[in-house]
Amino acid sequence: MSEQKSDFGLMLNEEMYGKLYQQSINEPTIFWAEQAERFITWYQSWHTVSDSDFNQGKVNWFNGAKLNACYNCVDRHLPQYANRIAILWEGDNSQRRQAITYQMLYERVCRFANSLKSLGVAKGDSVCLYMPMIPDAVVAMLACARIGAVHTVVFGGFSPHALAERLQNAKCKVVITADEGVRAHKAIPLKKNVDEALTRVKVRKVIVIKNTGHSVPMQQQRDVWYHTLVRNQEFNCEPEAMDAEDPLFILYTSGSTGKPKGLVHTTGGYLLYAAITFRYVFDYKEQDIYWCTADIGWITGHSYGVYGPLANHATMVMYEGVITSPPNIAWEIIDRYNVSVFYTAPTAIRALMAFGDEPLNSTKRNSLRLLGTVGEPINPEAWQWYHDKVGFGRCWIVDTWWQTETGGIMIVPFAGIGKPKPGAACKPFFGIKPRVVDAQGNDVLPQQTGFLTITQSWPGQARTIYGNHERFLKGYFGQYGGLYFTGDGAYQDSNGDYWITGRVDDVINVAGHRLGTAEIESALVKHQAVAEAAVIGVPHPVKGESVYAFVSLVAGKQWSPKLIPELQQMVTDSIGKLAMPEQIEYVNKLPKTRSGKIMRRLLRNVVTGEFDKIGDISTLAEPEVLDQLKAAHAKGKIQQGGSK
Ligand code: WTA
Repeated sequence: MSEQKSDFGLMLNEEMYGKLYQQSINEPTIFWAEQAERFITWYQSWHTVSDSDFNQGKVNWFNGAKLNACYNCVDRHLPQYANRIAILWEGDNSQRRQAITYQMLYERVCRFANSLKSLGVAKGDSVCLYMPMIPDAVVAMLACARIGAVHTVVFGGFSPHALAERLQNAKCKVVITADEGVRAHKAIPLKKNVDEALTRVKVRKVIVIKNTGHSVPMQQQRDVWYHTLVRNQEFNCEPEAMDAEDPLFILYTSGSTGKPKGLVHTTGGYLLYAAITFRYVFDYKEQDIYWCTADIGWITGHSYGVYGPLANHATMVMYEGVITSPPNIAWEIIDRYNVSVFYTAPTAIRALMAFGDEPLNSTKRNSLRLLGTVGEPINPEAWQWYHDKVGFGRCWIVDTWWQTETGGIMIVPFAGIGKPKPGAACKPFFGIKPRVVDAQGNDVLPQQTGFLTITQSWPGQARTIYGNHERFLKGYFGQYGGLYFTGDGAYQDSNGDYWITGRVDDVINVAGHRLGTAEIESALVKHQAVAEAAVIGVPHPVKGESVYAFVSLVAGKQWSPKLIPELQQMVTDSIGKLAMPEQIEYVNKLPKTRSGKIMRRLLRNVVTGEFDKIGDISTLAEPEVLDQLKAAHAKGKIQQGGSK
């Protein structure tokens, strides 16, 4: 990389990385104890750093220690940084703006925490947030952490049905929401969705934040306006001393089977991992202005939109809207606030790239020095555009691979180390020891693709699936004894750098959103005409993948294109618009194994026209089903609506 402006004063170089990495792997207890002292302020130290054991699916860190996550993100910064800006917030229409200092954040969090207490919320209670990207969302998360309540943030794009499912599963006592959210100038009826969700499940209280000011019905006993509730609350609230292993939050994500799973992250290990990865991966310096575009409803929004930056007393930008609307808004915001570190998703990069260079040309972006991406593989064209055009070829690109389960970044091309390789995840973070294995759990050779596993515990990993520890053990530790299974494929190149090849299970990644095909299928089969459904992800130029559904009908039902919008609506109602199939194809029968399992990989090969990649079909029960599909697709006859 020529003219590497950011070479100066980078935190890591090859030698330092190598030394620290070796120590983190060879002496993890010493390494993590040192980092825990450095990054976290503890009320009480641990008696054991960790006695995790992947053979038993047992994960724990800093046993016996006590801390408070909110205290670490706010209070402890006050002596030095009270007047430093924590959040630079901008509303969807760019007219509403707020600059919140650490002192202001402290006061807002304390008052929110006291408000929660006044409603009877106590340590260990689950509180759901269904919120727009406004400062109160961050305040509410920190307020929960302050009093030891467990937050579970549900992305505002999820439907009332999906919200109800999560409220029920997490046993939430209180929901925090807003009258409405706004994204790309469109109102999102958050309170209305909560009302609808609460026809299916009960909670004690709903706290409503006035955001757009649009009038919403309030239920007298249940709903309370936040501005009324907060009126008499004190500006101080003692933080609760939590055990390192007390849960900090539950966050739902999709798996390959069944319902979404609520991953549980604990206080000490998670916070340390979010803080240390933020510092090293983004090469964070005091003078940086940092902007992560992820919604707080996702893990990226938790670790790098709240906990990681705030634990490092960073100044961060928060934007209510969508960074592709209007097309130059991202670049304008970067100029307006002098953003130096920018973190977004490949899907956003591709969407911005599609606007051409015009929106870029009206802005300067001189402040940028490091650019991050997350959520899905980045294609080399998008990487190059991000590098050459957005960052003028002088910014490091850090393509961060990680998962909801891992709590923080796991594999990354660190700034300052090696030559950039578009699309490669590169090097493991400290303490992370990946292993690429075959189906039997044996190591594969370099350049050969296998299953990505991790061999030893790290502090940030999820401890369980809420209410279903069996599923946690089976899904993550049951496949390759003693190894954590990621669900992703990967290979190592001849330099030992890792490349991620994508999911190897029935999880798809649409616009950076992780979706379970099984969830979408069960929404489709709720339609009275549908007998069976199979969902796959197919390549999409902007979203990475889009949802493609196959359906067969119950006997006596006739296929009609009119069913398409009905089926799309079923999915929108059940999960949210983010999971709606773009294409729905009617088939007589689905290709299945002799034991009755749908062979989705064949469907994928047929839709993408890669007949030559179909490979082994010895387990296929009725080869003629595949032949029919191939014939229909070969003729190019397939349009939305089916081969028949
Ligand atoms: C995928 C998001 C390639 C991967 C933080 C993983 C990626 C899943 C990358 C987790 C990347 C995430 N390159 N693939 N840089 N980052 N993924 O739980 O398949 O929403 O397993 O966490 O996204 O998605 P999740």
